[in-house]
Amino acid sequence: PYPLYAELRRTPVLHEEEGGPYVVSSYYDILGLLHDPRISSDAGNLTAPGADELSEPEATGLPPSFIRLDPPEHDRLRRIANSSFGPPHRPHRIDDMRGELGRIVAELLDELGDEREIDLVDQFAYPFPVTVICRLLGVPREDEPRFRAWVDPIVAGLDPDSRNDPGAPVQRAAQEARVQLGMYLAGLAEQRAKEPRDDMLSDLMSGHGPDGAMSTMEVLSTAVLLLIAGHETTVNLITNGMLTLLRYPEHLRRLREDPGLSAGIVEELLRYEPPVQLVPSRTCITDIELRGVTIPKGSRIWLVLGAGNRDPERFTDPDRFDPDRGDIQHLGFGSGIHVCFGAPLARLETQIALTALARRLDNPRLVEDPPPYRQNAVLRGPRHLNIAIDG
Ligand code: HEM
Repeated sequence: PYPLYAELRRTPVLHEEEGGPYVVSSYYDILGLLHDPRISSDAGNLTAPGADELSEPEATGLPPSFIRLDPPEHDRLRRIANSSFGPPHRPHRIDDMRGELGRIVAELLDELGDEREIDLVDQFAYPFPVTVICRLLGVPREDEPRFRAWVDPIVAGLDPDSRNDPGAPVQRAAQEARVQLGMYLAGLAEQRAKEPRDDMLSDLMSGHGPDGAMSTMEVLSTAVLLLIAGHETTVNLITNGMLTLLRYPEHLRRLREDPGLSAGIVEELLRYEPPVQLVPSRTCITDIELRGVTIPKGSRIWLVLGAGNRDPERFTDPDRFDPDRGDIQHLGFGSGIHVCFGAPLARLETQIALTALARRLDNPRLVEDPPPYRQNAVLRGPRHLNIAIDG
C-alpha cells in the first residue's frame, strides 16, 4: 500500500464521493485529529456501518466497549481497566508477565520439533497472543482449548471477505461462538466476583479506584475488546516483524547476538509496517476546517496511520527500515485518549517473540516473497508466512 499512500498524501484531505469518508494521510494532520475533541469515536454517531476490525460488531448485544465511546464514559471504563493493568494498584502486572510470556513462547517453539519448513502464522504468531489474553483475564488452563475454539470462528468472522454477508456460514459460526464465549465469560466473571484472584476479570468485577467496579455487562464488553483489539494486531506485528527482519538480515543477526536491540526494532516496526493501517471509525461532531477543506458535521473520517508513518515531512528517509533512527514517534498505536491500551503488553510480547525466533530458527529463509496477504484495508499482515529452516 505504501506507493499508494505517497499518492494519497498529495491530497491531504481526500473526499471522493458524496457521503464517503474524508481520508487524512499526513502525519501532523492525523496526530491533530487524534487529539481533537470534535472527532468522536462513539458508535452511536456513525450514520453508516463500516469496516471496524478493532471492536466487536453491534450484533453481540453487549454495550459498546470503551474504544467506541467518548468521554466521560470512555474515561471511566478505561480508568477502571487501567487500575488492573498498571500503577498504582497493579504496578507489576505487565512486568510480572515477562516470565510467563517467555514460557509460552518456549512451548510453541518446542512444538516446532525438527520441521524444516514452518508457517509462522499458524504455528506461532496466531496461538501466542490468544494464550496471553487467557492468562491476563484469568481463564483457567484447562479451559484454554475451549476458549481458543470460540476465538477462531470469531476472528474468522472479522475478516472483511466474509463480513458483508451476515448469512454466510462463517458469520453464523462467529455469532454462535460469540454467544458461547459471552456465556462462558459471564460465568467466570461471576465466580471471580465471589472469589477474586490475581487476574483482570477479578479486578474489573471488584474495582480498586474511585470509579468503583464495572457492571457485569461492561466487564464482558471489556474482555471481548481486549481479545479482539489485542489478538490479530499482535499476530500481525510478530509476522510483519519476522518478514521485515528476513528482508533486512543484518538486523536479524544483530538481534540474535544482542536481545537488547529488540525494543528499538519493535518501535521501528510499528512505524514501518504497522498492523493497524487505518482508523476508520471517527465522526466529526461539528464542521471542521482542515487544510482549506470544510468537513461537514456528521462526516466520517479515515485516519491512515500507515501513511502518516511514512510521511517524509516527519521522518527522514521514511521507506527505510532503520531501528537506529532514534526519533520514532510513530502512529502505530494511535494517539490521544484512545491510544492503544495494550501497548506495553504488545511491545513486550513482540520483543520476546522476535528475540526467541531470531535465536531458535537456524538459517531462516522466506519461501515466498511477498507472502500471501489478508485482504484488509485496516489490518495489515500475511495470511501465512512460510519459512524454511535448517533446524
Ligand atoms: C486501541 C493498535 C495490541 C487493546 C488501539 C488503537 C490502535 C491500536 C491503533 C487506537 C484505535 C483508535 O484510535 O480508535 C494496536 C497494535 C497492537 C495492539 C498495533 C499490537 C501490536 C493490543 C493489545 C491489547 C490492546 C495486546 C490488549 C491486551 C486495545 C484497546 C484499545 C486499543 C483496549 C482501545 C483504547 C481506547 O479506546 O481507549 N490499539 N493494539 N491492543 N487497543 Fe491496541
